Amino acid sequence: MTGTDNERARKAAEGLAYSSGFGNEHSSEAVPGALPVGRNSPQRAPVGLYAEQLSGSAFTEPRSHNRRSWLYRIRPSAAHPPFVRANRGEIRSAPFTECLPDPNRLRWDPLPAPADPTDFIDGLWTLGGNGDATQRTGMAVHLYHVNASMERRVFGNADGELLIVPERGGLLLRTEFGLLRVEPGHVALIPRGVRFRVELLDAAPDGTGPTARGYVCENYGRPFELPHLGPIGANGLANARDFLAPTAAYEDVEGPVEVVNKFCGHLWTATYDHSPLDVVAWHGNHVPYVYDLRRFNVIGSISYDHPDPSIFTVLTSPSDTPGLAGVDFVVFAPRWLVGEDTFRPPYFHRNVMTEYMGLIEGAYDAKAAGFVPGGGSLHNMMSAHGPDRETFERASAAELAPQKIDDGLAFMFETRWPLTLTEQARDAGHRQRGYDDVWQGLQRHFRP
Ligand SMILES: [Fe+2]
Repeated sequence: MTGTDNERARKAAEGLAYSSGFGNEHSSEAVPGALPVGRNSPQRAPVGLYAEQLSGSAFTEPRSHNRRSWLYRIRPSAAHPPFVRANRGEIRSAPFTECLPDPNRLRWDPLPAPADPTDFIDGLWTLGGNGDATQRTGMAVHLYHVNASMERRVFGNADGELLIVPERGGLLLRTEFGLLRVEPGHVALIPRGVRFRVELLDAAPDGTGPTARGYVCENYGRPFELPHLGPIGANGLANARDFLAPTAAYEDVEGPVEVVNKFCGHLWTATYDHSPLDVVAWHGNHVPYVYDLRRFNVIGSISYDHPDPSIFTVLTSPSDTPGLAGVDFVVFAPRWLVGEDTFRPPYFHRNVMTEYMGLIEGAYDAKAAGFVPGGGSLHNMMSAHGPDRETFERASAAELAPQKIDDGLAFMFETRWPLTLTEQARDAGHRQRGYDDVWQGLQRHFRP
């Protein structure tokens, strides 16, 4: 990537217009009159476009879960040559069979920087996951550490939706639906099948060139939705209006563009003679979003005890069992702690659900050291975890004045199934070998 390209991406990311509201029936047109009125598929679509439906749910799913969008594009998606298998690099998919599921507590430092020019597709590195992509169940955890924008390349994932969690470096996502700017502290949600290109907005801290680093939750299951609020009421947690969909923006590019399609765990590639990001107008509810995690309305105890972290759920992928998620996305955002006679950090815990945690910035209040931005921890089904020794001793003796937790932004992908590692995650040089030590030396205090 050249500095000029970086500037082009930054300029494109300035002043983007969005359409707000999670799950809305959004609509947008980049050319006035391009969006048909009163019907989806007129005999001749306006301004010479092709009409095409993109279905994110079965046609007959209940209206509350039905997702589709209508795209009006320069060429239909069907106009493409055959896909051929491509090298999948360090991407792995469910079912995960390289390793035995591991009951140990595991933790990693950040993914090392790539040695060669590496874009978002080439830079995806799979930590592990569960379920089966061909059955549309489960999830995968990927990380990325990249130093190049995608050039004349477009990515689409038939296997599930992608929740992108940048930790370092802003991203410009050029999608079929338009442009999204995603900074660290934001998340982007790319629905199943939606094509997009990732361009980098920021230079590395040492000025050596563009860089971006972060996490991706690939959700093979039901699309993420906002959790029910129950007694919380009509407002709170992630408010629907803070999710921003792009407005239509199209590329009218003739010439070779590589389209990489992730399908049932493998990458397939085809070279189109045009850009498939050629949607001039669209409407529907199967759309990408960006969301600023600092908009999250944090709700907690104002009397005693620490609520279960489900209170911090941003998005949930429901299953057929009420309350049992395929995967929840949970954020630990700045908040006040005021509980009386309460051990305020997250409690000691064994959980039937599996918890992968990452850190976007600052520190996490249950870990004094070793859990760093860009790193991650895995506490698999029923593995015992909780505050480290130093945190336990400090919090047990702390004066319980109101306290603001304002120096960290951590998150969790919490899933109903155990998470099985890839070999590259198990054997990684950046996996910490002494993680168990943080719970060594917890003193015996029993006084019968
Ligand atoms: Fe936990």
